[in-house]
This record gives sequence, structure tokens and C-alpha cells, in this order.
Amino acid sequence: MGHDRLTVFDTTLRDGEQAPGFSMRIHEKIRLAKQLDALGVDIIEAGFPIASEADAEAVKAVAAAVRRPIVAALSRACAGDIDKAGVALRGAARARIHTFIATSDLHLERKLNMTREACLAAATAAVVHARRYTDDVQFSAEDATRSDPDFLCRVVEAVIAAGATTINLPDTVGYSTPEEIAEFFTSIIARVPNADKAVFSTHCHNDLGLAVANSLAAVGAGVRQVECTINGIGERAGNASLEEVAMVLRVRPDRHPYDTGLDTRAIFGTSQLLTELTGQAVQSNKAIVGRNAFAHEAGIHQDGILKDRRTYEIMRPEDVGVPSTTLVLGKHSGRHAVQKRCEQLGVTLTRFEVDRVYRRMVSFADAHKHMTDAQLRAIVDEVRTSEAAGAAALPSQAGPARIRPDVHGTVTEPGYGHGV
Ligand code: KIV
Ligand code: ZN
Repeated sequence: MGHDRLTVFDTTLRDGEQAPGFSMRIHEKIRLAKQLDALGVDIIEAGFPIASEADAEAVKAVAAAVRRPIVAALSRACAGDIDKAGVALRGAARARIHTFIATSDLHLERKLNMTREACLAAATAAVVHARRYTDDVQFSAEDATRSDPDFLCRVVEAVIAAGATTINLPDTVGYSTPEEIAEFFTSIIARVPNADKAVFSTHCHNDLGLAVANSLAAVGAGVRQVECTINGIGERAGNASLEEVAMVLRVRPDRHPYDTGLDTRAIFGTSQLLTELTGQAVQSNKAIVGRNAFAHEAGIHQDGILKDRRTYEIMRPEDVGVPSTTLVLGKHSGRHAVQKRCEQLGVTLTRFEVDRVYRRMVSFADAHKHMTDAQLRAIVDEVRTSEAAGAAALPSQAGPARIRPDVHGTVTEPGYGHGV
């Protein structure tokens, strides 16, 4: 409490959706938008209406489907795009037009073939035009972090004077570093005379793996809107990952004292839904939502977790909606985890049995990598049968023929969605 409030602008349905392999159909976008609403994002960027009729329809459908979050639509800085966005947003309870133009000389000269003065005029006219549809107008200076700072200050001042209420300065190609982006925002905010009339926003791409670090550095420099996506999807290496930003704020309020409207317990479900809708797996070691984020296989770690989970976990899985910590039984596991898993399956082992089951489990996992609960039960049965038969020694090779790696049973991991 008492912390500054950050606005969370989710662009999964726009920047995320435009990346290869992530396109979604209208009914899928509506499902995700409702889930983003439940997650508590402040703004849902629903699409880029001029890009295609389907995008325009999706923006309309999302605008009709959610009432609490602001729904934003993207447009270039020209009247035709803005009209298309304005019309698509008509049914929204709260609509934002997001208009952008590149401001770096590289983009102006090589891509747009435009002078700085023409860019300044187009940016200002776009904001004035967008204000005819809504009071909530966001202006983005594409490639801002590689733009000439003097020119960028002129553009920002002019668009605020024209009525832009949010100024987004993207690190479009993920080129910045945290120190640099902090200095960048500090300087722009200090130099633009009417900076206090707008909210500054950061939109970082992950080409160097710095999108989240850069976003947080920007916040430290006075930015109060963070643009991000679920699972960090987006152009090329993606955008800042919403779940990572959210959990840094939650786990490290000592360093990042900001509030959001997010319910972090909805994070995992949202990530899983996106995976389901796009068929695109999340890398297993992805922070917060990867299948290994709360899984432990190494014996020393499992032993530590069983004694006090804070030894190897800095956040509780339930705080991000992951059902529980997972102790994966594999060749690196220890006796403690074997005993615990058997207990969870309702099997109490003697010390002698723990030792036998553990050794069988390790040799089995050596050969087959994964061990399901059914396979573990089969090993317990084998050990007990051979014990009863008075067998003195157990085979040291991989598990017996009837413990097949494809035995259908519960893998000792939570239910990660298809494709993961
Ligand atoms: O990365 C970028 O510059 C963008 C803008 C359109 C906001 O996605
Ligand atoms: Zn982007």
C-alpha cells in the first residue's frame, strides 16, 4: 500500500499475435481477452484494425466482450488507420487509440522516406485526429531508443500539446540496456516541458534478453505504464513478459515498490490458455510459467525443499496459480523424495525398501528419463514381491520388462497444457 500504481498494458493480442506461429482466430482472442480481464490487466491491446478485416473484427469483438479493461487498437499516424481503429472501438466501454510513427533517422530515411519535419507534422495531426474518437490517445515513437534525443523531445512535446495522454517510447529492436534506458527516460521526462501532462510508457523487446530488466529500469526512471505480453511472446524474441514483471514486483517490493491491479494467481492459467490457443509451447525453463519453474529433480534440492521449501524456492507456486511444487523422480533424485512420493501415493516403505526402491528407480530413470507414478508403484511391487520371495539380490540393470516407459500413469508433474 502507498506504492505508486503501475498501469499494465497487455499487447499479447497485438504485438504477440503478430509474431510467426501465434495468430489467433476471433473466438480465441475473445477467450484470451476474458482471461486477461480476470488476470487484472488495465489495458488490452486487441489488434491493428487496418492490418486486416479479421483484425478489425477481433477488436470489435474484444471491445464488446470485456467492460472493465480499456481496449486499445493500434494505428499508424494517418487518418485512414485511425478511422478504422476508431470505428472498431465504437462498442468499447473504455477505448484507447494507439497511434505510432517511427522517429529514428534510420527508419525515417530508409523505411518511410520522410523528413523529421514531416514526421513531426504527421504525429501531431494523428493525435488531433484520434482525439475526435476518444480522450484516451496513446502516441508511440517507434524506435525511440535509437532516435535523436533532441528531435524525440520535440515530437513528445508536440503530441502532448496535441492531446496525447500516454507517451510510449519503445525499445523496438531490443537494443537498449537497463542503465541506458533509465538515463533515456530520465532525460526525456526532464527535458519535455509538458511531460507532467502525460503518462510515460515502456515497450521493450527481448532481442538481447533484457526486455524485463529494461522495463523495470524504465519504471525506476519515472515510467508508469509497462507494456508486456503473456509468456513474453511478440515480434522476434518477443516482448517483456507480463508474468516476470508481475512477479519481480511481488517478490522484490524492497527494490521495486509498485502496485498493479494484477491477480498473480491467474498467471499460470493465462499462460496455459495461450499455449492451448496457439499450440506454441513455453520453454521448460521459462521463468514463472515453464514446466520446470517449480520442479526439482536433484536429490540435494529435493531434500532441501522437503525440509523447508524456501531453501530452493523464492515464491510459492500457488501465488502464480501453479498447483504445487513438483518433485520429479529422475536419476538425480534422492531417497527423501522417493520416500515422500510413495507416502503421497499411500505407500509407507521400510528403510530397507526405501533403499531398494531408490536404487531401482535410479537405474530405471537412467534408461528412460521420466518416471510416472504408475512406474514407481510397479517398482514398489517388484521390490516387495522379491522380498517376499526371499530374493537376496535385485538386478542392477534398467527396470524389469513389465515397468514400461510408456505405462499410462500420472507423471509426477502438474498438468501442463498440451504442447508443453
Ligand atoms: O515495438 C514497437 O515499436 C511497437 C510499436 C508499434 C508500439 O510495437
Ligand atoms: Zn513492439
